[in-house]
Amino acid sequence: MDKLRIQGGRPLSGEISISGAKNAALPALAATLLTAETVKLERIPSVVDIRTMARLLSAIGADVSADSAGRYEVRSGDITEPVAPYELVKTMRASSLVLGPLLARCGRARVSMPGGCAIGARPVNLHVESLERLGATFRQEAGYIEAIAENGLRGARIPFPKITVTGTEDLMMAATLAEGETVIENAAREPEVVDLAVMLRKMGANISGEGTSTITVKGVRELGGAHHAIISDRIEAGTYLIAGALAGQDLRVTGTDPNHIEALTTKLEQAGVPLERDGDAWMVSAGRPILPVDITTEEFPGFPTDMQAQWMGLMAFANGDSHILETIFENRFMHAAELSRMGAPVEISGNLATIRGGATISGANVMASDLRASASLVLAALAAKGETTVHRVYHLDRGYEDLDGKLRAVGAQIERVIS
Ligand code: UD1
Repeated sequence: MDKLRIQGGRPLSGEISISGAKNAALPALAATLLTAETVKLERIPSVVDIRTMARLLSAIGADVSADSAGRYEVRSGDITEPVAPYELVKTMRASSLVLGPLLARCGRARVSMPGGCAIGARPVNLHVESLERLGATFRQEAGYIEAIAENGLRGARIPFPKITVTGTEDLMMAATLAEGETVIENAAREPEVVDLAVMLRKMGANISGEGTSTITVKGVRELGGAHHAIISDRIEAGTYLIAGALAGQDLRVTGTDPNHIEALTTKLEQAGVPLERDGDAWMVSAGRPILPVDITTEEFPGFPTDMQAQWMGLMAFANGDSHILETIFENRFMHAAELSRMGAPVEISGNLATIRGGATISGANVMASDLRASASLVLAALAAKGETTVHRVYHLDRGYEDLDGKLRAVGAQIERVIS
């Protein structure tokens, strides 16, 4: 298992360019199953989760080709096997995104129960219940969810009892080919949901209201090919802004969508981080002292849970105590114990973390536990005294495109030890 060896205290300067959003690319790839025509996608990040999704599409019967610049062409002419097997789904929870498209296109689907990041229980009941309301019937057998829509899917009004990002995406995709109108209430408003709606519209879908809590989908008979470029990754952008806040010397982070990261940039400004915007780019420097700032994770446009671990990494260097309230996922503080190994006193009580500021943070051996937790350890290591070794970086490779390469290019001393 690869590890990263990082020497702290090296200034970061130069430019980091943000890649396409993994969490927008995954549903975009799943959406290609909705048509027999070729769909061309651009700006797909080169990360393990994307390769898993591509393998999943191939297993289902799609022809998938990709080049090294992140351009994909997918054609799902005949779907012979609407099955998402355990071997692929176990590593990636987002595999459940093929459920809606397969049901809509084939009238049946067999999807293994998901795995993915070990953060909380992470069920798929909301996906299942909403698709049931479109007329699908489900049963669970031998670790698989089996879904059938014998008479096709029919539009319905579906109020989600809880906001779910991939649940909204799954339902929106299924509804594009359902008969009649579907109204999704309490829908997720995340930029990735909006990007998917834009792409589906290019394929011929009739969707309105994306970006608000109510999305309306009028079913059409079939969808066609399209060409779509994925939005930039707001979590990757946020991660490098925090890297800049910890160790930057005029670090330039380019290719961001400022509207997508406002919750974070507002908090960074409150923390006293020197941050300057220039179009879609940001200039960020390490301005000591870092002031303690509390956050509460929320659905978009609130502070994203996917930036919570990295924020904790930053607050470990603040000059006072700060708090993090995690409201989206249970059990998403596994990075706290590892940050403590580096000298950051973090106390956890249920879904509240208290980070005691003012401690000396030093390099240590630490273990990555999930995707964003790994990022927080790398961030802390960039500003820590001495050497840190982050073990199990495969978590990081699931969602960050060439993180060590990008950091090395701006001056970080970071080495990948391949084993
Ligand atoms: C997506 C993102 C993930 C991010 C999360 C929250 C992708 C591929 N992943 O995950 O990076 O952390 O949004 O912003 O886009 N829930 C249920 N039942 C369900 C589905 C969800 O109870 O059927 C709960 C979850 O346990 C969680 C909450 O709803 O507490 C929100 O989860 P959800 O928005 O569905 O997360 P994902 O879509 O899996």
